[in-house]
Amino acid sequence: MNPSRRPLIAGNWKMNLGGPESIGLASGIARVARELAGLDVVICPPFTALAALAAELDGGPLRLGAQNVHSKTSGAFTGEISADMLVATGCTWVIVGHSERRQFFGDTDSWVAEKAQAAFKAKLAPMVCVGETEAQREAGETLAVLERQLNAVLPVLVAHARAPMAIAYEPVWAIGTGKAAGPADAEEAHAFIRKYIAGTSEELAARVRVLYGGSVTGANARDLLGCANVDGALVGGASIAIEKFEPILRASHALTLS
Ligand code: 13P
Repeated sequence: MNPSRRPLIAGNWKMNLGGPESIGLASGIARVARELAGLDVVICPPFTALAALAAELDGGPLRLGAQNVHSKTSGAFTGEISADMLVATGCTWVIVGHSERRQFFGDTDSWVAEKAQAAFKAKLAPMVCVGETEAQREAGETLAVLERQLNAVLPVLVAHARAPMAIAYEPVWAIGTGKAAGPADAEEAHAFIRKYIAGTSEELAARVRVLYGGSVTGANARDLLGCANVDGALVGGASIAIEKFEPILRASHALTLS
């Protein structure tokens, strides 16, 4: 964490809690977020819960994000949702390029860049995910993979260098495995991401928040967010139960006070 960047904790609910049961969790998170000044908190529930949650959270500190967006504004794209639709529903954030999208739904580096562009155009803040698989890490390709993924989207990010956005480093081997990256590995990847961006835009490198994602818990949040280049977390499994998410929020907030 660095005092020049406001920490951000986002919860990616994935394909869970898409109906009325989402309201209790979101209100609980909003209650905690209200106490924690200095921390940005975002939840990304399924599309089907967004409208109800936007009404529920209206005026509060908790921000809403979607988990995906289409790159086009409208048209014959059955089953897809545009950035304008997300804004109209109350979203201010959208996750793009999550490894599960890349792995199961064919999101390519260039499509991720188009999605980020569509988000900016609609005044939606993209949270761009990058990260290597276990095989890539074992082959020593981690930094090359990050470079390739960033390279595709960087022109779009630099063109909107002053707009709200975040990058999430999510090593695929750490997602849902209970095996989070250690602080040293996380910091190495985050510092690399920032340095790589600085090669094109020092302004963006200094201000962009780089979140860590992959098996974040209340027990490891402090060490991970204590790293100089880790500005927050993108949390999966531990974001869909208040008793797991609240300790992450509180640990992150405590760091802002120290
Ligand atoms: P877990 O926190 O469940 O490992 O998921 C991380 C993730 O994919 C967030 O986008």
